[in-house]
Amino acid sequence: MLKWGILGLGKIAHSFVKDLLLVDGNEVKGLASRSESKAIDFKNEFKLSASTYGSYSELFLDPMIDIVYIATPHDSHKQLSIEAMSFGKHVLCEKPMAVNAADAKEMIEASKEYNVFLMEALWSRFNPAIRQVNKLVSDGAIGDVNYINVDFSHQMINANVSSRLYNLDLAGGSLLDMGIYPIFLSYLLLGMPKEILATARFHQTGADVQTSAILKYEEAISLVLSSFESHSDMVAKVFGTEGKIFINSRWHEAEGFVIEKDGHREMISVPKQGKGYTHEIMECQIQIEEGHIESDMWSHNDTLNLISILDEIREKIGLVYPFETSNSQ
Ligand SMILES: NC(=O)c1ccc[n+]([C@@H]2O[C@H](COP(=O)([O-])OP(=O)(O)OC[C@H]3O[C@@H](n4cnc5c(N)ncnc54)[C@H](OP(=O)(O)O)[C@@H]3O)[C@@H](O)[C@H]2O)c1
Repeated sequence: MLKWGILGLGKIAHSFVKDLLLVDGNEVKGLASRSESKAIDFKNEFKLSASTYGSYSELFLDPMIDIVYIATPHDSHKQLSIEAMSFGKHVLCEKPMAVNAADAKEMIEASKEYNVFLMEALWSRFNPAIRQVNKLVSDGAIGDVNYINVDFSHQMINANVSSRLYNLDLAGGSLLDMGIYPIFLSYLLLGMPKEILATARFHQTGADVQTSAILKYEEAISLVLSSFESHSDMVAKVFGTEGKIFINSRWHEAEGFVIEKDGHREMISVPKQGKGYTHEIMECQIQIEEGHIESDMWSHNDTLNLISILDEIREKIGLVYPFETSNSQ
């Protein structure tokens, strides 16, 4: 039985725990919030038999916990993950695992030093439809991929500009929250780009509300976009020399795709379990059981590569988080 502690009881923690309860061999044993009454409410909501804590650090001392799921704003991921690992806990940390590559490296070093499992919760990597598309593309089913068009757009109606999404002190903005997904798909199917062009529009808080990048490869181009301001169809389009694949909306949590080739159009259904977090949860179980400190499907190096692309895009659009400036002084 893998015993989980959950840290930061916001929106994603709720969705994640719903899925965790669907996967055999997992149990929620600890809940930590900045407010213990919030942890108690969470425990009651899901009828859990878990300890509740009014601070994150207390949970790290709980000997019942094997793995900590970190679901706090991005800027806190590094410090909380390293602290958890220093207490011998495995860590599944929400995306982006770190706000920049330098921080991700420190986290990976800690995973090696304390010999514990560490993975970025890049759940789309484990989505069965995306896995099948990845397999088809690498088997050459649509020839050589030469163009990808993929976005993550959600119009924030009545946006709460005091939320973490618009708060630069919490590394808010569309790129790290949403843009990470289209860039992930491009990285998964084409690897590291040779050249990156990027532009963005900003909110008055300084958070990027729309960011678009062109990722140029030797034989292909990817157009990626993240946006708080528009509703798109969220269909990922992958074009090859011999066919094309459309991953169904919303592509990052898809349950199927369409493949068009030789004048034929086939719709392929690929069910997922729960909302889809189940698949990354199963990956943690397998890897921890086998004594590994990383997943080979979404490795430490994959996390580093992905955040390096985001770093370069940030450099191109001139986006620096306030805490990065003070660190470098
Ligand atoms: N994989 C996915 O599908 C997915 C989806 C959404 C978000 N995420 C990721 O998950 C993380 C959390 O996102 P979320 O949407 O769940 O955010 P959220 O609803 O704002 O929840 C974040 C939680 O973090 C804790 N927290 C600690 N310091 C905070 C601070 N200074 N300001 C606000 N909250 C603070 C709070 O929990 P307590 O009050 O209990 O301490 C809060 O409820 C982000 O890194 C995001 O990228 C992933």
